[in-house]
Amino acid sequence: GGSTGAVRRSRARTPAPFRTPLPVPSVLKPSRTQGGVDYYDIVQKPAQVEILPGTKTEIWGYNGQFPGPTLATRSGRPIVVRHTNELEVPVAVHLHGGRTPPEHDGFPTDLILPGSGWEGHDTHGGDLSRGSREYHYPLEQPAATLWYHDHRMDFTGPQVYYGLAGFHLVHDEAEDNLPLPKGERDIPLMICDRSFTADGAFDYPAVDPSLKGEHGVTEDFMEGVLGDVILVNGAPWPVLEVDAARYRFRLLNASNARRYRLALDPGPQSGSAFVQVGSDVGLLGRPIGHDEIQMAPAERFDVVVDFSKFPVGTRIDMVNKLDDGDTGKVMQFHVVRKASDNSRVPTKLVDFEPLSRSSATVTRKFDFNQRSDDGWDINGKAYDPERDDAVPELGATEIWRFDGDAHHPIHLHLAHFQVLSRNQNDPGPYDSGWKDTIDLESGKEMEIIARFTGYRGRYVFHCHNLEHEDMGMMANFRVR
Ligand code: C2O
Ligand code: CU
Repeated sequence: GGSTGAVRRSRARTPAPFRTPLPVPSVLKPSRTQGGVDYYDIVQKPAQVEILPGTKTEIWGYNGQFPGPTLATRSGRPIVVRHTNELEVPVAVHLHGGRTPPEHDGFPTDLILPGSGWEGHDTHGGDLSRGSREYHYPLEQPAATLWYHDHRMDFTGPQVYYGLAGFHLVHDEAEDNLPLPKGERDIPLMICDRSFTADGAFDYPAVDPSLKGEHGVTEDFMEGVLGDVILVNGAPWPVLEVDAARYRFRLLNASNARRYRLALDPGPQSGSAFVQVGSDVGLLGRPIGHDEIQMAPAERFDVVVDFSKFPVGTRIDMVNKLDDGDTGKVMQFHVVRKASDNSRVPTKLVDFEPLSRSSATVTRKFDFNQRSDDGWDINGKAYDPERDDAVPELGATEIWRFDGDAHHPIHLHLAHFQVLSRNQNDPGPYDSGWKDTIDLESGKEMEIIARFTGYRGRYVFHCHNLEHEDMGMMANFRVR
């Protein structure tokens, strides 16, 4: 139940779609390297940026940028990121899809308080740092499109909405050796929706996180907060000029609550619009052709699009078939010139090991339901940072069954998983490969098989509709 969150109020004039050039977030350089470890520095601070032409929007950005700078790292080469908090609110940083020790995973109560001046009491007794904190990432995991974002308890929704999100690409040798498009033809695309007030500010229609309240959201937004302007890499309905060649796009749905079904209009004369080569946390064994890509919040799809199938001069809209009007448009590709292209999509990508049902030693069941008109639960309980809701053994393989009363994109920290079944049937077209987030559909039970490798300690799993998360739809597992 509840309203859709689509409250109409006066808003800034939005630009005509497909005029703004697509920005690509800059790649962050390490500030130093020592003992085989790369050290990075990021300052979280407010900044004024022009998103809608002629107005300034205050963002909260990693290095004052939205999206944050891209980290491009190597599998197995550890890094340390020092985050300095120059915002007025506590923050926590989570590397989404990362296999990270628990004390560096951005547990929702392990906060970096502002350098001075924070007297709020909603810190829930976690591990608090003041001013800055170092996050250690071993990156013992294969090439993948990860992202990092805020994870403060009760306020993840507003703090991500204000801009605290960026890409983290892990590369490895297996990926280097594939003939996929590279360099300027390998582009991350962060897709999200926002609303703006008449003077150009982000309009997060709930509680201001600096008010030190109990939650970042109110019961008016039970379905999550939806925006009416689609941004790609922080720009409204942008256009990208492309060569008539193959491009690799790392699609990320960084929206708080919106799902998309992406398609190309016009589509290619022959073959699939998108050739998927990777999912959330790694490359696929074999490529999969799709005419549409459906993405729930936090999911990633690594796809190749071949623009040589279109005549030079063609303008191709990427549309969202789940909506019409403004939120039915995403961005545009404009094929501007002929070009040479040595890339291809090989029929085999990487060694992929499907997990068999019989390798699981434990089965658990989790129900994702509305609690009342003020919150969302897992197994009838709202989140408690001090309660263990599951205790898997280190190295264990487990089957987790999910059921729920609405669309809930379920995300596990640390553990990567595969989809075993949906609604008692085979997995769906978007369920292939190693995943960390999966869209649970209302009344359709699904099963995943997860591996709890890496580290012992307490981690969260939760709905990645960020308002649902803030309203209690989160739980802990402790790897023992
Ligand atoms: Cu992308 Cu726990 O989050
Ligand atoms: Cu949910």
